[in-house]
Amino acid sequence: MTSGMPLLELRGISKSFGGVAALTDVDFTLRAGEIHGLVGENGAGKSTMMKIIAGVHTEYQGTMTLAGQSVRLRSARDAKSIGIGMVHQELSIVRDLSVAENVLLGMQPVNRFGMIDYATMYRVAGEQLKRLGIDVDPKMPIGALPLGLQQLVEIARVLFSGARIIILDEPTSALSPPEVEKLFAILRRVRSEGTSLVFISHFLDDILRISDTVTIFRNGRRIETAPVPQIDKGWIIERMIGAGHEELEESYTGEIHLHSKPDAPVVMTTSGLSVEGVFDDVSLQVRGGEVLGIYGFMGSGQLELARALFGKLQVERGSISIGGVTAKLNNTTAARRAGMAFVPESRRSMLFHMEPVYKNISISILQEISKLWLRPSAERTIANKHVKTLQIRPPLVDRPLGTLSGGNQQKVALAKWLTHLPKVLVLSEPTRGMDVGAKDDVLKIVKSLREQGIGVVVVSTEPETVLSLADRILVMKRGKITREFAGEVVSKDRLLAVA
Ligand SMILES: Nc1ncnc2c1ncn2[C@@H]1O[C@H](COP(=O)(O)OP(=O)(O)O)[C@@H](O)[C@H]1O
Ligand SMILES: [Mg+2]
Repeated sequence: MTSGMPLLELRGISKSFGGVAALTDVDFTLRAGEIHGLVGENGAGKSTMMKIIAGVHTEYQGTMTLAGQSVRLRSARDAKSIGIGMVHQELSIVRDLSVAENVLLGMQPVNRFGMIDYATMYRVAGEQLKRLGIDVDPKMPIGALPLGLQQLVEIARVLFSGARIIILDEPTSALSPPEVEKLFAILRRVRSEGTSLVFISHFLDDILRISDTVTIFRNGRRIETAPVPQIDKGWIIERMIGAGHEELEESYTGEIHLHSKPDAPVVMTTSGLSVEGVFDDVSLQVRGGEVLGIYGFMGSGQLELARALFGKLQVERGSISIGGVTAKLNNTTAARRAGMAFVPESRRSMLFHMEPVYKNISISILQEISKLWLRPSAERTIANKHVKTLQIRPPLVDRPLGTLSGGNQQKVALAKWLTHLPKVLVLSEPTRGMDVGAKDDVLKIVKSLREQGIGVVVVSTEPETVLSLADRILVMKRGKITREFAGEVVSKDRLLAVA
């Protein structure tokens, strides 16, 4: 159903953050009663564009019209008042409030004394959630629910707000397949009532299933818009990643042949690792020269497992041995001494943004190596070498790290481990938030580390990440390893099917 009249039209939108362009001359049209799928690699500008529509970003160039009327929003409240609602990528629920209060946030029913009428609130919220097929107790604190349900409640809130244009920014990343089905049923119903929706997702199968129209963004530009019956996954991927990224493209579309290395020596073994309510009885082995991928939905425990392997999270039961020696990873220093290295998902927690690039590269070894390393000239020499091999851009080691793009910061985070090879390197969400070029670079770095014989563990909630990097894949579900893929053919569909 793409025949609806243009409802919302944006023309020539440009937006930059601190001199860096996030959007360049983008046109975007949303029609009445359509579901408009919006796709693009991380950093392509999707969220920024939608935040302009939702009144979050008010400084930009270009024009916006709603039903032919020019509008210039001054705030998200403004947007709400003309019927535009957005569910943000980052949840904005209030964890301590009940489900009902979250659903009706800002619209709670009051009695004649002006007090919140709890009985009515629970009843109304309960009825509305039920209508959407969301089965939760409206009195529960929302923070106690699984992430997927929290997300559905947040979506429910925007749906109840009476918005006629609803933007969903990656709403399914935390949802299980049955929850996604539930959401899609809701979206179709809302659409049939004449509401227009923008649906952002990196799950291309979902996009093709739910959308009437698809728009592709790349590097802050709109590349193309087309009605769904005319396009397929390959068509989208080509436009999303541009030319010359065959390996990445394969991880999006194709079947991956895993090449296990059963003969290589085991460098790390865990047995029965458990943390109550987080992960349970995790036993695995990593071989030298192997990349082990651990995949699971958000909340499956794999990100926490990664932290435990670097002494950032204390295990309650189980043991770890590294290079054949039992290791107690009570803290990160112990983990590092035992031969572990870790690059966490939020790069910000590890790197020093105000410090120059060269310091960030050498910082992890300062405490272990002689004073020679403290000489800035020596540090620079080492750093320059890595900047070159990793193609860190711009190649200026004296620049503060914070001035580099996310992808290049990630390369710096990896570079410092190259100066001092660990036995096992654990990477958590190594390519999240990166453009294609940076992803390719990370791919190369990981491969070169593998060639040098270290064991690499990659944990991620993104199937593409493990598919493009791993030689062997474990799937985690509710804290347990439920499946191993080794020496066989695997695809994104097969991964999702068992997660
Ligand atoms: N608040 C912000 N401050 C600075 N840079 C930002 C901000 N929001 C987004 N960006 C930058 O704008 C670009 C587009 O980001 P975004 O719109 O979030 O992409 P997407 O949603 O497609 O992943 C990225 O380079 C990102 O780093
Ligand atoms: Mg985004």
